[in-house]
Amino acid sequence: MPWPLLLALLLLLAVSGAQTTRPCFPGCQCEVETFGLFDSFSLTQVDCSGLGPHIMPVPIPLDTAHLDLSSNRLETVNESVLAGPGYTTLVGLDLSHNLLTSISPTAFSRLRYLESLDLSHNGLAALPAESFTSSPLSDVNLSHNRLREVSMSTFTTHSQGRALHVDLSHNLIHHLVPHPARASLPPPTIQSLNLAWNRLRAVPNLQDLPLRYLSLDGNPLAAIGPGSFTGLAGLTHLSLASLHSIPQLAHNGFSELPGLQVLDLSGNPKLKWAGAEVFSGLRSLQELDLSGTGLVALPEMLLLHLPALQSVSVGQDVHCRRLVREGAYPRQPGSSPKVALHCVDTRESAARVPDIL
Ligand SMILES: *[C@@H]1O[C@H](CO)[C@@H](O)[C@H](O)[C@H]1NC(C)=O
Ligand SMILES: *[C@@H]1O[C@H](CO)[C@@H](O)[C@H](O)[C@H]1NC(C)=O
Repeated sequence: MPWPLLLALLLLLAVSGAQTTRPCFPGCQCEVETFGLFDSFSLTQVDCSGLGPHIMPVPIPLDTAHLDLSSNRLETVNESVLAGPGYTTLVGLDLSHNLLTSISPTAFSRLRYLESLDLSHNGLAALPAESFTSSPLSDVNLSHNRLREVSMSTFTTHSQGRALHVDLSHNLIHHLVPHPARASLPPPTIQSLNLAWNRLRAVPNLQDLPLRYLSLDGNPLAAIGPGSFTGLAGLTHLSLASLHSIPQLAHNGFSELPGLQVLDLSGNPKLKWAGAEVFSGLRSLQELDLSGTGLVALPEMLLLHLPALQSVSVGQDVHCRRLVREGAYPRQPGSSPKVALHCVDTRESAARVPDIL
């Protein structure tokens, strides 16, 4: 091989990430990924999943970035098993699919660089206060546990304002304790919160969180009315699909969400039309999902209340898009273009396609 070509090849290898395995604790897999010219950066991923509780505490290489401890039938974790060389630099830790029923308040206190923590599919019934304060977390997954009551202050992290995504879906949560207004610590920086499939009967008080995404799917919410979403003016996506109840949608129920862009109310067959005023105040709403609800007849009034609306799904497979019909040209001063909803039944049009061909 001519040497300039060889050099180019070597450079290419050095710049793109290369993966190699390295010696590791028996049963675990250690993969090293190197980046940069002449492998100047390396990240080690350690997979110790499915080995059993005896592996704890497991020694890991010094430069470990991600550690997978899932499916090991672990019952507890504390700071003495999550400590030692390698743990200090962890960025991701997976403890999912274990038998954790409690965690010690200081369990994660030595993980000073931890950004992603997966505790899903365990039996956690409670979270100690300030469990995550030492770490700069951006993702915490607590789905599929047995949590009943959760205090928002638990998610105060050492993130210096970085957005935090919290998944609390599939628990038994019936109450969320709001972050106290006069707390010494600032409110947690939760930007997306998944509370789907819990036991919430009312929209929880999430005031003061910088929330943009909220899911309350599958909760037995009794009512949505004025005041339900107080203090959530920054919310852009709200999902209220498959609610386990027949919620009343009161007039102005969403009026405190002027920045909302996407609203999902799908899969609520018993939800009934209470007039377009239900949606008043949603001046940024672009997408509305009403599929699988009783709200089939769409009065054009909707467009008056939802000036930014671009698309609506209704019934089984009907999708409507906003159309602007320009009037006569040149337009008369003071006349506005006619706006209408154009709806297509996608099942019908799909069925029609062979005819056209
Ligand atoms: C931490 O947990 C291990 C078992 O997982 C236990 O042997 C040890 O005593 C615990 N240490 C502390 C400080 O609680
Ligand atoms: C949390 O974990 C569950 C189960 O492992 C998974 O389905 C879900 O996608 C995870 N959530 C996030 C936000 O990654």
